[in-house]
Amino acid sequence: MKKYRIGIVGATGAVGQEIIHLLEKREFPVAEARLLASSRSAGLEMDACGNREKIIETTPDSFKGLDMAIFSSGSDISIKYAEDARKQGCVVIDNSSAFRMDPQVPLVIPEINLSDLEDHKGIIANPNCSTAVTLMGLYPLHKRFGLKRLITSTYQAVSGAGAAGLTTLLNELDENPTSEPNNHDSPFPYPIAYNLIPHIDDFRDDGYTKEELKMRNESRKILGLPKLPVSCTCVRVPVKRAHSISVNAEFQTSVNVPDARKAIESFAGAELWDIPNSGRYPMPLGYAEKEDCGVGRLRIDHALPNGLAFWVVGDQLWKGAALNAIQIAESLVKRQWLKFVS
Ligand code: A2P
Repeated sequence: MKKYRIGIVGATGAVGQEIIHLLEKREFPVAEARLLASSRSAGLEMDACGNREKIIETTPDSFKGLDMAIFSSGSDISIKYAEDARKQGCVVIDNSSAFRMDPQVPLVIPEINLSDLEDHKGIIANPNCSTAVTLMGLYPLHKRFGLKRLITSTYQAVSGAGAAGLTTLLNELDENPTSEPNNHDSPFPYPIAYNLIPHIDDFRDDGYTKEELKMRNESRKILGLPKLPVSCTCVRVPVKRAHSISVNAEFQTSVNVPDARKAIESFAGAELWDIPNSGRYPMPLGYAEKEDCGVGRLRIDHALPNGLAFWVVGDQLWKGAALNAIQIAESLVKRQWLKFVS
């Protein structure tokens, strides 16, 4: 079996570590795992894909000989190096928001819009974590009933803010946080322990945050519904891992719960976990380190015509980032779509 040389940019970070773990778990055919990070980590060693590997500082030359590289170091690093990688014939699968809305760049969830991958030009974008988890519950309903309007509220785990998000929560749990703004190093504006923060990413003039706009713009692009009305509120919650999303959706055709249940049950990557009277509904503790996203609390939405309400939970480090990126890599290999014309 042919094996592939793969770079992991941000290998020391929260998502990078999951990428290494999932490459091993899913037995991706790796000829070389090149671990790239900042100068701070250069020279450190780490186990990856059966070898002890040295971490290398990311530079424009880091991509020579690689078939593909998964970037998880944030937008600035993607903008700085993705083009260098691409010019060296290395396909970039980018976890940041840098290229997601670029019309030349496919934004892909393989279970939903795999075919968008086919004509890639060397850069492929992985969706925002909350958008990916939401669409894993919503897409089968869209296919069945035709989506018309989307309203969501997210409950986002601290590890979505990187390794620093998790250590911040764990440290603050031992303190007695107040509602004063943080005066210590933290990715969050206020203490997150014993708290909820309705503020993820920067605010725009219209009162929405950039994170909330990602849900709108990326859902439109992935579903191919450029005018879909979407309203979203993003909230950081003191959960270690796995994002939860409350979804209210209006559809074009009349809806019913039995058909909605069937649609979700038959969709790969989603698990219907929905017997509320027996306490069966998805929760972050049940979906951390799980590949499938859980859908529950499925019911008719009494406030929308042809409306359904549901709750979807998924591991944002997996389906919202590392797993989806590796599924893209697996698809490129399986369909022989690695070669590209820029
Ligand atoms: P490093 O550990 O060397 O700082 P997280 O999302 O968990 O905060 O992780 C961010 C990732 O981005 C880490 O792997 C971090 O590496 C990496 N990173 C930060 N700065 C750079 C850079 N200049 N070049 C490449 N990777 C970087």
